Amino acid sequence: MRIDIISVVPDLLASPFSHSIMKRARERGLLEVNVINLREYTTYARAQVDDYQFGGGAGMVMMIEPLVNAVESLQKETKYDEIIFLTPDGEQFNQKTANNLSLKNNLLLICGHYKGIDQRFRDHFITKEISIGDYVLSGGELAAAVLTDAIGRLIPGVLNDESSALSDSFQDNLLAPPVYTRPETFRGWKVPEVLLSGNHKLIDEWRHEQSIKRTQERRPDLMDE
Ligand code: ADE
Repeated sequence: MRIDIISVVPDLLASPFSHSIMKRARERGLLEVNVINLREYTTYARAQVDDYQFGGGAGMVMMIEPLVNAVESLQKETKYDEIIFLTPDGEQFNQKTANNLSLKNNLLLICGHYKGIDQRFRDHFITKEISIGDYVLSGGELAAAVLTDAIGRLIPGVLNDESSALSDSFQDNLLAPPVYTRPETFRGWKVPEVLLSGNHKLIDEWRHEQSIKRTQERRPDLMDE
């Protein structure tokens, strides 16, 4: 899978895909991530990519021309399944969307900045608009990193134990159960007996019960879905 990300602050995306699972996914050739500097596609002086908004008002708006130059140049090489704009007014990102997007071959993510991007670009080029939550970030880069990580780890072969993505929180609308590791006792706090029993049927049942309990307590809204 290939994920291209257009940004005016590419340095912000230098590290998130260079460690741990994302690093391994790239090294195995399962995930390719390219960060494209929008400023390389502007014809305006001093690498300008934003301008004052028509109608007045505070805040700059990203201009359509550099964005179109960048997208059309990339499209010469790659046919994108989705061109996604990260924006607080997009549809809320969740595990279901991550699952769906992980089945695609090529994604292009556009990171917004300032007051937003010219609406004409949204109207004519964007195929999907996604928010990672009801709060406003300084730009779309961290949201793009969240999407790439959540999608990338679902690509078959990325996680060592393939079933481990299936047992994540949210995969079946349930939160994951508690987990424990050595030592069996720390300051008198004991690991639940059942986990030491070696009885996998009992362990599975216990985990399922714990998942339900946790979801009822913390996210009853998930149980309704
Ligand atoms: N850009 C700024 N805030 C955002 C958010 N909450 N989700 C996605 N992109 C954003």
